[in-house]
Amino acid sequence: MLKLHYNLEKLSMGLVGAIIVAASIGGIVEIAPLFTIDETIELPDDLRPNTPLELAGRGIFIREGCYACHSQMIRSLADEVDRYGAYSLAAESAYDHPMLWGSKRTGPDLARLGGKYSDFWHVEHMRDPRAVVTASIMPAYPWLDRMLDTSTLGRELAVLARLGVPYSAEMIDNAERDALAQSRPESDDAADVQARYGDRVAVRSFDGDPERLTEMDAVIAYLQSLGTLTSSASAVLKENGS
Ligand code: HEC
Repeated sequence: MLKLHYNLEKLSMGLVGAIIVAASIGGIVEIAPLFTIDETIELPDDLRPNTPLELAGRGIFIREGCYACHSQMIRSLADEVDRYGAYSLAAESAYDHPMLWGSKRTGPDLARLGGKYSDFWHVEHMRDPRAVVTASIMPAYPWLDRMLDTSTLGRELAVLARLGVPYSAEMIDNAERDALAQSRPESDDAADVQARYGDRVAVRSFDGDPERLTEMDAVIAYLQSLGTLTSSASAVLKENGS
């Protein structure tokens, strides 16, 4: 083997060929399973896509670079499960384009954040993290109190629908209305949001002011939805007896 390698090193073209062969084996091992992904990853029946308001919040999460400090993927290691909850399942990210698993945790993982804190806590924390967590090194995001631009939401849903996210024509047509209605429980359209996206969708004024639809509403709607789009992960954990 050593001798083969020694001789190969002297044949530059042969070495290039051997490198290509070796690298392709690695490539095939990584890429080939993706061709059967539809069969290997079973989507839970209760998996729902993000509502337009949550989707807007997700866009702001990306715009503000939150993913640089926060992962959204709990590994199946005991210490992670103890700290953050049920480990993440591949199916939970099926509708995420792009996925936001992240690769660095300056702050905690957010995959199971939904319901952990009140909306009010989040509002305070976004405006000034140190007001609620004294030693926090997270930056403040006071500008999220500005109005939310909903004009592109219909098109965003349409693009995601083309990528396989189950947004119906009705959801796409009503994207702007649904975004507004999700933050206005008293409005006539509020019931339509749950009719379209399911009872588990939270319909309320997330920033505490139902008169204004702000970026804060969108971010908090998104944060409160994390880990709640399907109940399958906690079911798996229960089955395993932990
Ligand atoms: C520079 C790194 C950094 C960035 C960028 C950042 N965070 Fe944080 N975040 C932290 C740290 C550190 C903590 C832990 C201390 C605290 O709770 O404030 C934290 C905590 C949190 C928590 C509480 C999590 C929990 O389980 O207690 C939430 C929610 C959160 N961040 C959301 C966001 C959002 C939304 C953004 C983008 C708008 C963001 N973070 C951007 C560092 C960051």
